[in-house]
Amino acid sequence: MAQLIIQTPAGDSVYSVREGALLSSLLPELGHPPDMPCGGQGRCGKCRVWAQGVLSQPSPSEVKGLTPRELAEGIRFACCARVLGDVCVRLPAGSTLSQICVQGAEQAFAVDPMFSQLGAAVDIGTTTLAAQLYDRQQLLASASAPNPQGVFGADVISRVGRSVGGERQALAQCIRRGVSTLLEELCRKAEKDVSHIDGMVITGNTAMLHLLTATDISPLAAAPFAVKERFGRTFSAGKLDLPCPADIPVYLPRCMSAFVGGDITTALMASGICRGTDTALLADFVPTVKSPCGIRGCSPAAPRRQALPLKGPTCPRACRALPAPLTTPGWKRAASPSTPSVTGPPWASAAAAWRTCWPAF
Ligand code: FES
Repeated sequence: MAQLIIQTPAGDSVYSVREGALLSSLLPELGHPPDMPCGGQGRCGKCRVWAQGVLSQPSPSEVKGLTPRELAEGIRFACCARVLGDVCVRLPAGSTLSQICVQGAEQAFAVDPMFSQLGAAVDIGTTTLAAQLYDRQQLLASASAPNPQGVFGADVISRVGRSVGGERQALAQCIRRGVSTLLEELCRKAEKDVSHIDGMVITGNTAMLHLLTATDISPLAAAPFAVKERFGRTFSAGKLDLPCPADIPVYLPRCMSAFVGGDITTALMASGICRGTDTALLADFVPTVKSPCGIRGCSPAAPRRQALPLKGPTCPRACRALPAPLTTPGWKRAASPSTPSVTGPPWASAAAAWRTCWPAF
């Protein structure tokens, strides 16, 4: 074993870690997942950390992607540097990824929850996890966190490739740990015991639900992107390794297609537009990021989607979303009847969706 000291603005921590492991595999286990948009292929450079001690020699990717001065100062790619003895790593201030809106206006609806004591609602986004905890009367707590599967690649298609390539169980364990941590945070905030959660809904896009349940995702990996598993059924918490009683129901909402998932169906339910007779629009806002790298083929000012489900990270320097420029979305009714109008709540939060999406759905 080796000693790993992690320095952050919040203070230093000391751990015993296994020799020979990559920093990129150790840091997530210690609660410090680095940004890894390229999934550890040494191409994006976003996993860089300051590290000194007994480490492997800089890899060809690091020699190519770092300047001689950066290398001399101890900058390393976490996905390339192996711990061979005692090491000290310095990490920058925390990520802004968890800054996601988890509150929103809700439509009035009859409450008929699937739980008796505590119910949890979780949205597995490609980039971010969000969750809320309810009792029979009210919302008790909200929480969000980066999707820990980011170490397998920032985009859906990278993770699909890793799952098809033999890491299906590793991806499932990774997201299950992330959801479990979020549930424990919710209960800590609400001063409740996680063992009292007796019903749960976990939504997400089609790929995220496949990865959570360790379902064969290969049909989503290539045209015509057929989907055999659409969910819309209940699993047990034990089957998903969640920290609640093993036999409680966990409902995964039904997906429409390979890339229109349960997150969309729950939003449709919550917004109430299915019940109306007017033409309506449901808009799904996703994080965008300005790519300032300026490399060939990458417009410095062009906003790009963080998750490109079909294309993958087209820019080798793809970076995580910054705090979204769209922080307070609003709705404006069309002035003219000839113009399509937009109906729905100011922000159809996922939580509102979850609360209406019970197994009867
Ligand atoms: S270079 Fe390390 S994750 Fe991309």
